[in-house]
Amino acid sequence: MLDQQIIKAVLQWHLDTGVDETIADEPQDRFAQFAAEQAQKAAPAAGARAQAAPPPASSPSSAPAARAPVVKPPAPKAPSDQAALADAVQLAHEAGDLDGLRAALEKFDGCALKATASNLCFIDGNQNARLLLVGEAPGAEEDRQGLPFVGPSGQLLDAMLASVGLDRRADDPANAALISNTVFWRPPGNRTPTPRETALCLPFIERLIEIVGPKALVCVGGPSAKSLLGQSRGITRLRGKWFSYETPGMTAPIPAMALYHPAYLLRSPAMKRDAWRDLLMLRRKFDEL
Ligand code: URA
Repeated sequence: MLDQQIIKAVLQWHLDTGVDETIADEPQDRFAQFAAEQAQKAAPAAGARAQAAPPPASSPSSAPAARAPVVKPPAPKAPSDQAALADAVQLAHEAGDLDGLRAALEKFDGCALKATASNLCFIDGNQNARLLLVGEAPGAEEDRQGLPFVGPSGQLLDAMLASVGLDRRADDPANAALISNTVFWRPPGNRTPTPRETALCLPFIERLIEIVGPKALVCVGGPSAKSLLGQSRGITRLRGKWFSYETPGMTAPIPAMALYHPAYLLRSPAMKRDAWRDLLMLRRKFDEL
């Protein structure tokens, strides 16, 4: 029997490398499956050879069975940063609507997060909403459902929006919201997206903003605010203020603000007071637009 400490260490190692959830009831040995597939592919040829040249009668029957060669799956090709970014810019630019942008993301292989995520998390909410919220990155529940902000943070975000009369599911665009993230696939183990991952997803989120044409933009959490507003200051300095957001493809700048991330508010409920002020500031501005 394996020592409990070894089992714990192996589990911790999995967690540290981002393998933190099961996605099926039974474990599956993909390496064995791959080796079996390779062996099956090779089998007809081997059989033909065996018929043409049967082993000599004197072959020792006790010879050890030949070991199947260990065949490694081909390593995925990692495009260079520049090539991947150029690809992202072109795919995003070519998208004329939200369906096209989703298809472009499904085609884009430059961001390594895609390989470890279960699903693409693109958008959720009313596509005609006048308010667009952009968070940081999908978590476990978002990855499972393929929708942004549907886990515990999403529930708090919905409650925050509801407190000022906003609802991602509202039919009236004046009270509705559309929600997305600065990266579209879950980082393993919920780690912070790397600058490379964020940079590679940026052309897509910029194009999303151009296509949706919201009247106001809310960056949910510091990483989103830093990335979209081009700021280096932390969220405590960025919240409570209006900024101006514009991309070359937009006809006019729109007001943008940063909110504390609901995951942070779940850990630090005392900060909800400031978040409430920010929500009121958002509602006031929204009513003026
Ligand atoms: N946190 C985020 O920033 N985005 C999500 O979609 C979920 C949690």
